[in-house]
Amino acid sequence: MNLPDYNEARTRDKRKYNRLTFKLDKNIEKKYVGKTYFLKTYGCQMNEHDSENISALLEALGFSRVDDYNDADLVLLNTCSIRENAHNKAFGMLGRLKHLKSEKKDLLIGLCGCMAQEASVVEEILKDYKFVNFVFGTHNLYQLPEILDEAVKSSKQQIEVFSREGDLVEGLPVIRSNDFKAYVNIIYGCDKFCTYCIVPYTRGRERSRKKEDILEEIKELVRDGYKEVTLLGQNVNAYGKDLYDNYNMGDLLEEIALMNIPRIRFMTSHPWDFTDKMIEVIGKYPNIMPSVHLPVQSGSNRILKLMGRRYTKESYLELFHKIKDTIPGVAISTDIIVGFPGENEEDFQETMSLVQECKYDNAFTFVFSQREGTPACKLKDNTTQEEKEERLQRLNEVVNTYFLENNKKLVGTTVKVLVEGTNEKKDMYFGYSETNKLINFTSDKTIYCGDIVDVEITDAKTWSLDGRVQ
Ligand code: 5AD
Ligand code: SF4
Repeated sequence: MNLPDYNEARTRDKRKYNRLTFKLDKNIEKKYVGKTYFLKTYGCQMNEHDSENISALLEALGFSRVDDYNDADLVLLNTCSIRENAHNKAFGMLGRLKHLKSEKKDLLIGLCGCMAQEASVVEEILKDYKFVNFVFGTHNLYQLPEILDEAVKSSKQQIEVFSREGDLVEGLPVIRSNDFKAYVNIIYGCDKFCTYCIVPYTRGRERSRKKEDILEEIKELVRDGYKEVTLLGQNVNAYGKDLYDNYNMGDLLEEIALMNIPRIRFMTSHPWDFTDKMIEVIGKYPNIMPSVHLPVQSGSNRILKLMGRRYTKESYLELFHKIKDTIPGVAISTDIIVGFPGENEEDFQETMSLVQECKYDNAFTFVFSQREGTPACKLKDNTTQEEKEERLQRLNEVVNTYFLENNKKLVGTTVKVLVEGTNEKKDMYFGYSETNKLINFTSDKTIYCGDIVDVEITDAKTWSLDGRVQ
């Protein structure tokens, strides 16, 4: 048994980690043919992509997927720790599974992802959720086949969680959930340690994949007809820093832009590492989508300092305007936390004024959530939850008006859309524009999923646009 430990997870040193190539143990390949699995994913794109690897590992063992957990022989929860409600959702699901297991004794239940990296969660599972058969963390996902096999053989809970990121594993199998859009990891982990954030503990230090491995994966995606890649990392802008002296995110973006892939996206960017070279490259290549997610978190310098964000409102705005001025038609989205410990009305008004200046195309807004083990947990907090919720509401009202205002400017223009499918009534297609806006549209011509079509925008809503194919 290996239990998670935050002291170890916090450690950053010069120690080199290993780079391994995944190999499936032949003794368990296809051992579970006829068995079914249900996989539930919480959280971010990183988790979604991990789940694409998990599905492929399970299918290599012989499992086939079902959409209803009542029909499954194995239920696996790939969890998220970012805010308390993500936690609550996973524990709520475990409650339902407990009930199911009381009727179906052979049901296997597993938990993985970010929550598995938290000592308090694992303690709780050991104590109160004995029906969970196995737990593994984000650093040892590649060991799923062995851990699962051991759990089947043994009556004991299998808890295998590495706190220090061990290895960077290439060659994991993957079953992609979309035929035209693909996620490609470029860097794992985060070294920023923003004081509110649990990610540096659950995902470990920054580790870049070798550029050759990334380029090879994209080459294969192009060969398979993929139209869009999203380069993933907790902070993609730090790409290469741990690996190369003279090759960073700007260089990687440029090399990928020269490959034959129609659309390139990336997320997430910390404002601290956003270089001029990156801005120049994004502006220069039409296949790098003019869409930047640039989390600001707060508009108050006092709060930004307490958050450990390493920039001021002024330097953020300077970067924001440089991106807007250099990349034609760019859409910028953001993340904002309200109710950080010590945030007063004046600080909140600073955030409101920043939002009024930036007029974001999209914003993900959150009330601060205490994460055990993070420095912000220890800060004094006099604001009531009610007041925080009320600030969130005021903020949302303002950001929403800008989403609509920006969308309205597009009415009458023509945008390029990657066709993804039809809506439930099948009377409209949907897809995303280059600036990552959801477009619902009609077409008189025959079009197919994966096509990139010109759509004339006819109507604007807050979170989507309507149009018709030209
Ligand atoms: N409370 C609220 N929001 C958080 N985020 C990260 N940690 C917390 C927390 N403890 C938000 C940040 C981040 C996004 C992914 O989630 O805005 O950018
Ligand atoms: Fe949630 Fe962060 Fe883990 Fe993604 S990396 S699943 S957002 S805690």
